[in-house]
Amino acid sequence: MRLVLVLVMALAWACSGGGPAQDAGAGEVTEVAGGDTRDWVTPGPDWQRRTVFYQVWVRSFQDSNGDGIGDLPGLISRLDYLEALGIGALWLSPIHPTPYADSGYDVADYRAVNPDYGTLEDFQRLVEEAHARGIRVFADLVMNHTSDQHAWFQESRSSKDNPRADWYLWADQPNLPCTPGLQFGDSAWKWDEGRGQYYFHQFYEGQPDLNYRNPEVAAAMLDVARFWLGKGVDGFRVDAIYTLFEDLPGTPEDQFICGHHPLTHAYLKTLRQVLEEYPQRASLAEVWGPTGTTAAYFGDGQDEFHLALSMDQELAIQGALMLDAPSLLAPKLTDTLGRLPEGTQYATFLSSHDWPRVMHQTGNDPARARLAAVLLLTLPGTPIVYYGDEVGATNTTAQVVDKRDGSRAPMPWTAAPDLGFTTGTPWLAPAPGNETACVAAQDQDPDSLLALYRRLIALRNRLDFLGSAPIRVLRPATSTDKLLLFVREAQGRTLLVALSFAKQALPLTLDLSALVSVAATLELTSEAEVPALTPQNAAAYQVTLGPHGYAVWSL
Ligand code: NOJ
Repeated sequence: MRLVLVLVMALAWACSGGGPAQDAGAGEVTEVAGGDTRDWVTPGPDWQRRTVFYQVWVRSFQDSNGDGIGDLPGLISRLDYLEALGIGALWLSPIHPTPYADSGYDVADYRAVNPDYGTLEDFQRLVEEAHARGIRVFADLVMNHTSDQHAWFQESRSSKDNPRADWYLWADQPNLPCTPGLQFGDSAWKWDEGRGQYYFHQFYEGQPDLNYRNPEVAAAMLDVARFWLGKGVDGFRVDAIYTLFEDLPGTPEDQFICGHHPLTHAYLKTLRQVLEEYPQRASLAEVWGPTGTTAAYFGDGQDEFHLALSMDQELAIQGALMLDAPSLLAPKLTDTLGRLPEGTQYATFLSSHDWPRVMHQTGNDPARARLAAVLLLTLPGTPIVYYGDEVGATNTTAQVVDKRDGSRAPMPWTAAPDLGFTTGTPWLAPAPGNETACVAAQDQDPDSLLALYRRLIALRNRLDFLGSAPIRVLRPATSTDKLLLFVREAQGRTLLVALSFAKQALPLTLDLSALVSVAATLELTSEAEVPALTPQNAAAYQVTLGPHGYAVWSL
């Protein structure tokens, strides 16, 4: 019956001259609304709430042609590894032509692939091959700004009366009191000789902000989204959406708003409508701000983003790991989740291309890195594993663009000096430690960090309520501030997680009688031995967790 429906719809789309639904890129219909023809890791609607994402810094993942730069054919050659890891979706760093002033977040052409990374055909093959393995693909959509090399900006800067004169934010005086974030410079205004005016940039000066009050700009970016959806991408991580609108010069001073402008939400709703034109697409917001502010980008739960990166929670995780202080994280967990519209959730992560690697955060402590992995994959939200964290890669001290390059080093595949990443010279000097922190060294070792990640991701895929189910932090009758104990519960299924943030062994006596009515199944532990947890001993359950040890049971 489903096959008939697929064929009928495919025929209807073909006859209609093609709408968004004939978007399989290579001309093949891969999905229909309400149905799912592939063997996805996480099938069905709302898949983004049940899947594990993996973030790939394309330039650093796998080089295929010896130029020292990771590329799409290289990434394709590693899809079997990613399939074995168990992830259900990839998020790729920007893949477009770029002068690389902000590591690719300065896009010079939205509809092309950076020749360093390959071709549009390579991209389509990547999508097809990932899909064939049940893995979905997210692209990074950089909406707020372009590169100053983009044709739109070149035209806009050429005169005050060209057709794109108003596509960017130009002023005679640098009079909008916004300042760029951290590493992006002192002033948000740059003088342009050609135009004889200043242009506004929230980020590096090579990244002029687009003027979203101009309907042509707003429409052009939606067309960019359609272009990639038409190539089969399953959604977008949308860059810096809190900066899309600013108040223009001339607005009364008390109206100056540099970020989180109310107009942004109306525009983001139009982006959501574009996504809704295609079946089972999703979106992930990159938004910086306190939890309450971030939550606004879910709209009513149906009309803005599906997911949003939780910066607050990441900071709390980092703090807890660095200071061995779970009390920094525990209140944040329940606080964060209480505020979300039904059907939405945060994306949880430990590190990224903007943050130091987990290993770096934990002072190169393997036990803490393992604890962090368990935390990431048992917390609520959609987990994002940052490439290389699964083998304990650490930061490099090398830098090409800025200090964030620390976490963007080539993927350590092997213990060789070239890391199995390239036959040439890597574009960025590798991080140390790949003799042991590499895939080859850990692949067959059941005690390795990589094996732990595989087990955790498998657990996550099996217990697919873990993304959306609430969290309940338990306050056990035991006198330690080093234990984080929580349960995740949904539809009669429960996961119980005990994490020690102590540097020494932590003996515990826990009253779990309210939870345990049948013998618990031990899913994972760092310990050689953990006593069975049964209704008989649950009222005064005794267990000792080693330094930064953990135990996870299902009930
Ligand atoms: C957020 C990206 O994650 C970051 O790397 C980039 O510098 C800014 N947005 C500007 O695009």
